[in-house]
Amino acid sequence: GTRYSDADVTPRRQARDAVGPLGAATPGDAVATGFRNASDTDPAVAANRAWAARVVGPDSGYVPAQSPEVTSADEVDDVVARAGKAAVAWAQVVPADRARALRAVAARLEEARTALVTAMVHEPGKTVAEADPEVSEAVDFASYYARSAEALDQVPGATFTPDGVTLVTPPWNFPVAIPVGGIVAALAAGSAVVAKPAPATPRCLEVAVDAIHAGLADAVASAPAGSSLTAEAVRDVVQLSRVPDGDLGRHLVTHEGVARVILTGAIETAQMFASWRPDLDVLAETSGKNAIVVTPSADLDLAAADVVRSAFGHAGQKCSAASLVILVGSVGDLRTETGRRFSVQLVDAVRSLAVGPATDVSTTMGPLTGVAEGKLLRALTTLEPGEQWLVAPRRLDEDGRLWTPGLRSGVAPGSFFHLTEVFGPVLGIMTATTLDEAIELQNAVSFGLTGGIHSLDDAEVDTWLDRVQVGNAYVNRVITGAIVQRQSFGGWKRSAVGPGAKAGGPNYVAELGTWSDAVAAG
Ligand code: SER
Repeated sequence: GTRYSDADVTPRRQARDAVGPLGAATPGDAVATGFRNASDTDPAVAANRAWAARVVGPDSGYVPAQSPEVTSADEVDDVVARAGKAAVAWAQVVPADRARALRAVAARLEEARTALVTAMVHEPGKTVAEADPEVSEAVDFASYYARSAEALDQVPGATFTPDGVTLVTPPWNFPVAIPVGGIVAALAAGSAVVAKPAPATPRCLEVAVDAIHAGLADAVASAPAGSSLTAEAVRDVVQLSRVPDGDLGRHLVTHEGVARVILTGAIETAQMFASWRPDLDVLAETSGKNAIVVTPSADLDLAAADVVRSAFGHAGQKCSAASLVILVGSVGDLRTETGRRFSVQLVDAVRSLAVGPATDVSTTMGPLTGVAEGKLLRALTTLEPGEQWLVAPRRLDEDGRLWTPGLRSGVAPGSFFHLTEVFGPVLGIMTATTLDEAIELQNAVSFGLTGGIHSLDDAEVDTWLDRVQVGNAYVNRVITGAIVQRQSFGGWKRSAVGPGAKAGGPNYVAELGTWSDAVAAG
């Protein structure tokens, strides 16, 4: 299988090299586990420094969003009306030509890499290290769904009818890859798109949509005579519309001209949409409370590196992020050498994170988007009964966006921190006597998005894979950063709403429309 796939070997080696000898760790040392030391020693990273410095610096060319916010219901109506016309025209484009168009879009997204990274650094405060692979994911979505478009045509005797006008409403935490994924999937299916940026990240989507428009124009310009791909067919097929949340947002979501919504966001948002309009087709990827299990058979150097990357990448503001690490047996037992070593490694790795603005090239953990409040503020400031801080978070700025990371131990089964998504830079440690007990703790969570195990024992891994209730189960790897096609991404339990097709997987585009009876029957 893909358990020890080629793609996973390279990061494994790098992480190992960066950690250094296990025994060298002593409390207080900045024994980096894949972060600063990696960038100090990895020639590929060093070679990118000049580029990264330009992207984050004053000459980056960053400008704030250029398009105005929508201010009236009439404007919303106009956008949806144009999309309705565009959907009719675009549906005439044959799948092979849609695929050609998407390949041209992929090329333009790649060309826009620097501008996209710049927007992500300046708008939500992503580090270059987080933003750069996000561009790759967007490019991959366009190329991958091009193939999905072609596949729609290859089911004998069956025809596929696209949904029609599709609203794509992404979150701010992946302000490029997630909206681009939704847009290109809908285009592959043959639908027209209204893309509503998250209010915090309009510039990221503007740059992405410009690249998509440029790709569509390229494809039209190079289309042979008689092709179904015409200037008319691509007009208004993707419209960015800065509709604010609130009444106008509701007007858009409930608009009768909108046939489908692709949503990524909190489960509460998906529930709100459903309450507004129960008949609406929503394909949603929602919240997570994700754990990594570490057993005594694990490569502990690698486990520490992967846990910390999974928990604190983009300051933990990913639905896929690790929020819990569940230590099995001796790994969680400080009376053992194994337990003491792992604890020291984890603490040192967390302490070695360099917190700062993403515009400082040495930052390895950037700011929160928005001020810490509610559940996250509680997680950053308050211990629950039985818990202790191994690394206590500290607020570094006035407005509460920059926090140092937190590591808490003693998280009790059934407690607030065990069960609640907090969406920020706090990792909780739980302990279990056996792997079975660890799996029970992991499955007690109502969400089921990502999960991981670090174990070099095949029987343990098989047991875990059989029983863990998550959409994306990762073995000996970080649990964020799903790779299109290789790790199609989506949740289980309360982490998904709708048909459950996974992004970047073989069924996603095929869910964005209706199949004729021939397929339903056959
Ligand atoms: N696809 C992202 C990840 O895997 C989350 O949306 O981290």
